[in-house]
Amino acid sequence: MNDKISFIIDDREIKAKKGQTILAAAQEAGIYIPRLCSKEGLSPFGSCRVCTVLVNGRAQASCTQPVAQGIVVENSSEKVFQIRKQIIEMLFIEGNHFCMFCEKSGNCELQALAYRFGILAPSLPFMFPEKDIDASHPDVFIDRNRCVLCGRCVRASRELDGKHVFQFVGRGPERRIAVNASADLKNTELESSDKAVEICPVGAIIRKRVGFKIPVGKRLYDHEPIGSDIEKACT
Ligand code: FES
Repeated sequence: MNDKISFIIDDREIKAKKGQTILAAAQEAGIYIPRLCSKEGLSPFGSCRVCTVLVNGRAQASCTQPVAQGIVVENSSEKVFQIRKQIIEMLFIEGNHFCMFCEKSGNCELQALAYRFGILAPSLPFMFPEKDIDASHPDVFIDRNRCVLCGRCVRASRELDGKHVFQFVGRGPERRIAVNASADLKNTELESSDKAVEICPVGAIIRKRVGFKIPVGKRLYDHEPIGSDIEKACT
């Protein structure tokens, strides 16, 4: 039985496996769709919407939307670009991201997305919310000022580390990452080698004593925009 289907993305016909997401199928064809909460090896979550595409004209999260025969996907139109750019800008203004002082600078996916989208300063005013820091653990700290609520740590702790260290609590503007303990991070079973630590796309969960160790010029996104690896893989 033929389990391949075809669809159009940016005027290009590509083949996909049934059940594959649009993001995964595009990636196999060397087409980068920006993403933040999505990460290979983790279950799809669909929370950040950075991966928004237009499917037959309707906005959809490509990391959770499965391909269907004959759909027409817009990934690189001006309209899609502006939707994603606004979402990325919102992530900046909803948190406190001081990139020049952040240990993750140069290796941060949010910062790299901002560069890819040409965002130098958000067009909306910053909210400067009050967020707390948990530095109680001997080897890891959480800085919620930089958290984008992507939930990667929640899923990685559960799905890859076999623990349940992180979870979401609260709603709306009060939503935050909490730890599975009555008190602080030091009271959890988190270890600095856990996947939940390294999988944070921003500087919200950071190993202590390694900040700024990689010199400028050798950091992940110092030379090529985020997504270049995917685009180059099929050229
Ligand atoms: Fe698809 Fe976050 S990457 S919703």
